Amino acid sequence: MSTIPTVPVNAARKKITTHSFQIKKKNRQPISMLTAYDYPTALAMDQAGVDSILVGDSLGMVVLGYENTLPVTMDDMLHHCKAVSRGAKSALLIGDMPFMSFQLSSQEALRNAGRFLQEAGMDAVKLEGGKERLDAIRLIVSAGIPVMGHLGLTPQSVHQFGGFRAQGKLASAAQQILDDARLLQEAGCFSLVLEAIPAKLAAYISQKLDIPTIGIGAGAGCDGQVLVTHDMLGLFDRFTPRFVKKYANLHGELGRTFGKYIGEVGLREFPAEEHCIEMKEEEWGIFLESVKSDE
Ligand code: KIV
Repeated sequence: MSTIPTVPVNAARKKITTHSFQIKKKNRQPISMLTAYDYPTALAMDQAGVDSILVGDSLGMVVLGYENTLPVTMDDMLHHCKAVSRGAKSALLIGDMPFMSFQLSSQEALRNAGRFLQEAGMDAVKLEGGKERLDAIRLIVSAGIPVMGHLGLTPQSVHQFGGFRAQGKLASAAQQILDDARLLQEAGCFSLVLEAIPAKLAAYISQKLDIPTIGIGAGAGCDGQVLVTHDMLGLFDRFTPRFVKKYANLHGELGRTFGKYIGEVGLREFPAEEHCIEMKEEEWGIFLESVKSDE
């Protein structure tokens, strides 16, 4: 790996803030958001011009290989948030609060939310849930920490939902999501993720709210879109949700690339001369002289 420093990250691009989110909603400019969990990915998407990077607790599934997001800890999240914040200097950085980091008490939620900003370079936090989370959200916001809400298919409730299932398809469930969305806005959330709900419902909520909605599997009527990067890159091998567009097949590409390397090592085609370190003949001669006595 090269140790030569790269060019300064995004020297020309202005920092995206929660205020930029508001302006974009007002001007009807779609907000782009992607997940990242490491330095090189964050650097590449930041330089490509993404508005926001979410260090999602999807980390648990797509990077750490767990069945769901429940085993992810604060330590896991902070470790990956730090890497992302070293790579991305312009995008609004959002750290996802993992399961059990905000449910026990509002005070603990605030303490953990603060760690994302103080220790890991995040600009905001996201947490899942509706009206049952209002006290925690109010307290976090009152400490000056921007909070993004998350409604619909909230993966930390996978066992309550009986699997990763679309939500809000019945009128009563749709009403509940709308009510929760309004409450989250009132509690001070600056934005709201809507996951796996009917496109009609997401568009309706987006029109009714002043804060921007970011959809994932929620149609084009949201104010912005987010995808799990490993899904859109075709890097996650286990399954791809129906609402994901695969922009690449990196899992296949990685397999082909690793296969090529293994083949070349087997045939001694790698390393070739250009990958080897030279030594002057004169130095080599002195070396051989000096080791003569060993032979
Ligand atoms: O964890 C995550 O990546 C998320 C997105 C799916 C919104 O919460």
